[in-house]
Amino acid sequence: MKNILVTGGAGYIGSHICVALLNADYKVLVLDNLSNSKVAVLERVKEITGRSLQFVKVDLLDTQKTAAVFEENSIDAVIHLAGLKAVGESNKLPLHYYRNNVVGTLNLCERMAKHNIKNIVFSSSATVYGEQQVLPIKESAATSPTNPYGRTKLIIENMLRDIYNADPDWNISILRYFNPVGAHKSGKIGENPRGIPNNLMPYIAQVAAGRIERLCIYGNDYPTADGTGVRDYIHVLDLVAGHIKALQKLVERPGIMNHNLGTGAGYSVLEIIAAFEAITGKKIPCEIVGRREGDVAIVYADCSLAKRELAWSVDNGMREMCEDVWRWQMQNPTGY
Ligand code: NAD
Ligand code: UFG
Repeated sequence: MKNILVTGGAGYIGSHICVALLNADYKVLVLDNLSNSKVAVLERVKEITGRSLQFVKVDLLDTQKTAAVFEENSIDAVIHLAGLKAVGESNKLPLHYYRNNVVGTLNLCERMAKHNIKNIVFSSSATVYGEQQVLPIKESAATSPTNPYGRTKLIIENMLRDIYNADPDWNISILRYFNPVGAHKSGKIGENPRGIPNNLMPYIAQVAAGRIERLCIYGNDYPTADGTGVRDYIHVLDLVAGHIKALQKLVERPGIMNHNLGTGAGYSVLEIIAAFEAITGKKIPCEIVGRREGDVAIVYADCSLAKRELAWSVDNGMREMCEDVWRWQMQNPTGY
């Protein structure tokens, strides 16, 4: 399996996956419609790796152009990241999310089936779990997403299971990401949100850089040690390493698998702020405001299955996550 199609490869996680694939000698074809990314990122990927990759600006909703990609290229496996991911936006634009994420994946899988390409690694999310009483969360926990974005992920997971049930020649890896943060050590690629960031870590980085006045902490009355929300933050480089392991596993042990990718440790909003301040020496002005709709109190993963089955482990802790976000922010104050 040498030729990898990376859908959404120009995005935050996709660009880091491209670096890892190229460094591991894979041939990479990126498919992206650039709806949430810039093509400049791929130049940075080439700079970091000293290798080239192919890029096609294609929307997975465009069945003709997607079909042409499969006709014109040799593809052994697909890492499927293309999708919309903003929880709040998905509440406002559910149809847009269902069309883009579910129909886009349906088109992709139909093309794969037609060309007898049956290896796929899919970017799912911890959001499929919703609020859980038992922590840490195992893969076997009942799924109950609380927003349209999460429901698109669950629908896709179920579609992939149905595809496998009908044809066990498919090899499918479903990876449920917890909270990816951090950036490449070079500071050349990182998370580049459009407009005001939705997520905590890029928001803090922009406050520290003086681009945003203050951080709003969404609630300090949760049933957690300090009252703020607790999440399982994972360095993007560790997340990416999990994809390479999953891809290798598809060859060694074909079938369908489902793994959590997190660290197993929960950090509160106040702990993240304190860590970021300690590492950067910057004060993060903040204000406590009301809870954000749809947020849950505590989410962290049981990652023992991925550790055991994929022989995967994490190398980066909170220090590295903050250091690497800050390096990226300082080197690229306005993104790409
Ligand atoms: P991102 O927005 O940076 O990357 C997604 C990429 O997909 C973008 O480059 C976008 O232009 C592209 N894309 C979207 N719709 C497309 C379509 N119809 N056709 C072609 N390209 C399309 O997001 P990311 O953070 O890199 O996330 C990658 C994947 O991981 C997504 O599927 C996301 O849902 C999932 N995920 C992300 C997080 C997170 O916190 N970042 C957490 C869990 C899961
Ligand atoms: N938070 C703030 N202020 C902000 C942003 C966030 O206090 O400006 C808090 C949130 O309330 C939450 C924590 O910081 O307690 C983390 O929030 P994020 O928005 O960074 O992350 P979420 O856990 O809400 O969601 C993220 C992705 C989802 C993904 C999920 C998986 O946005 O797409 O992780 O666990 F599904």
